[in-house]
Amino acid sequence: MGKKYSNLSGFVENKKLPIYNWLYYKEGFSAQIVFDLIERFNLKKGKTILDPFCGSGTTLLAAKEKGLNSIGFDCLDIAIFSSTVKTRDYENIINELQETLNKFKELPKTKQRHKIKEQLIIRAFPERILNELLNLKKEIKEIKNPLISDFFLLALINTATKTSFAVKDGGCIKIDKKRSIPPAKYMFVKTVKKMIRDVKEKTFLPCTIDVFRQDARIFELEKDSIDCVITSPPYLNKIEYTNVYFIEEYLFLKRQMHASLRSFVGSKTEVGISDIGDEKLQKHLSGFISKKFEAQIAAYFIDTKKWLENIHHCLKKNKYCAIIVGGGCFPWGVVESDVIIGLMAQDIGFKLIDIEPLKKVTCTKNRTTKIGIVNESLVVLKK
Ligand SMILES: C[S@@+](CC[C@H](N)C(=O)[O-])C[C@H]1O[C@@H](n2cnc3c(N)ncnc32)[C@H](O)[C@@H]1O
Repeated sequence: MGKKYSNLSGFVENKKLPIYNWLYYKEGFSAQIVFDLIERFNLKKGKTILDPFCGSGTTLLAAKEKGLNSIGFDCLDIAIFSSTVKTRDYENIINELQETLNKFKELPKTKQRHKIKEQLIIRAFPERILNELLNLKKEIKEIKNPLISDFFLLALINTATKTSFAVKDGGCIKIDKKRSIPPAKYMFVKTVKKMIRDVKEKTFLPCTIDVFRQDARIFELEKDSIDCVITSPPYLNKIEYTNVYFIEEYLFLKRQMHASLRSFVGSKTEVGISDIGDEKLQKHLSGFISKKFEAQIAAYFIDTKKWLENIHHCLKKNKYCAIIVGGGCFPWGVVESDVIIGLMAQDIGFKLIDIEPLKKVTCTKNRTTKIGIVNESLVVLKK
C-alpha cells in the first residue's frame, strides 16, 4: 500500500464521488481504499463485510458497488442516518423524487420565523437562512413516503453545511462570519438535483445492507459468520463526534441536548493503567503512558480490546480484518495505536499480517514544538 494511500485514509477523495459525497464526513476514509482491500482479500459477490464503526457509510456503499453484503454499526444519529440513506435503492422511485423536487421548486416563499434558543445554532447561520432551512424541514416532514422524506432531509443537512458560518476544525466547530452564504433554497434545489442525477447514473449489484445503532464494544454477531472486516475506529486524540455534528443533529435529527452522547470509545476517562486488570495490555501500554494522561489512554485501549474481541468472535477463520487507525499526540510524546492494536490483536488470537503506513503527521506541543511523528496506518489481521 504505502504512499499511494496517503490521500485515501481521509474523506477528501470521496468529495468527488457520487452518493459518497451526499454528506461530508471529515473523519471518513475513501471508497478507493475499500475497493482495494476487497480486491486484495479476494472477496466475491455474496460475501459479507462488517464495519463496526461505519460512520457515513463508505464501506457499506463500496461493498454495494461490488455486490457484497454488508453490516454497519455506529452510535451517532448522523452516521446512522447518512449510511442508511446513501445505501438505499432508489431506482423505483426516481419519478417520485423528481416530482417532489418540482413541488419544492414551486413552493411560495414563506415568511415563517422560528425560535431557536441554542446559541451555537444562532451564531452558525444568518437568521434568514436558518428560517429558510427550518421552513424546508417543515415541508420535508409532510412527505408521506419515508424513503423520499429521508432523501430530501439528507439533502437539507448537506445544504445546511454549505449555508452556515460553522466550519469543522479538528474536534470542534469554529464560526467564520466571513464565509459567503448562498440562499438556502437555491442550494437545496441544486443539491437534490445532483442527488437525483447520482441515483440515475450509479448502478449497483444486488446485495443486503444492514445498518444498526450499536455500540461496537458490545455487539454480538454469530460466531464465524463474517467474511471480512474493514473499519476505522475513533482515533485516540478524542474527536467528540457529538460536538462536531451537533448542528446537523440538533436541527434535523431531533437531538435536544448538547453533548448528551459521547463518541463512546475511550470515553470513560476515570480508568487508570493499574485498573486495567490485564497484564498483557498493561505491558503493551506501559511504554507509552505518562501519569497525566494514562486514564484517557487506558480507557481507549480497554474499549479497543472489547471491539477487537467482538470482531474476532464473528469473523470466519482465515479471513481478514483491516483497521485504519491513527496514533495519539500528547504533550509528552506519541502513542502508537497501530502497534498496540497489533499486539492486542495477537493476544486475542489474530495473526498480525502487516502494519502499513498510510500517512505521517507531525505531533506538536502548543502548535510549535515538535514532539514526534504520529502514524496513520492500515493494520491487517487474519483470524
Ligand atoms: C473514524 S469514524 C469512521 C468513518 C467511516 N469509516 C467513514 O468512512 O465514514 C469512527 C466512527 O465511529 C463511531 N463510534 C465511536 N464510538 C463508537 C462505538 N462505541 N460504537 C460504534 N461506533 C462508534 C463514530 O460515531 C464515528 O462515526
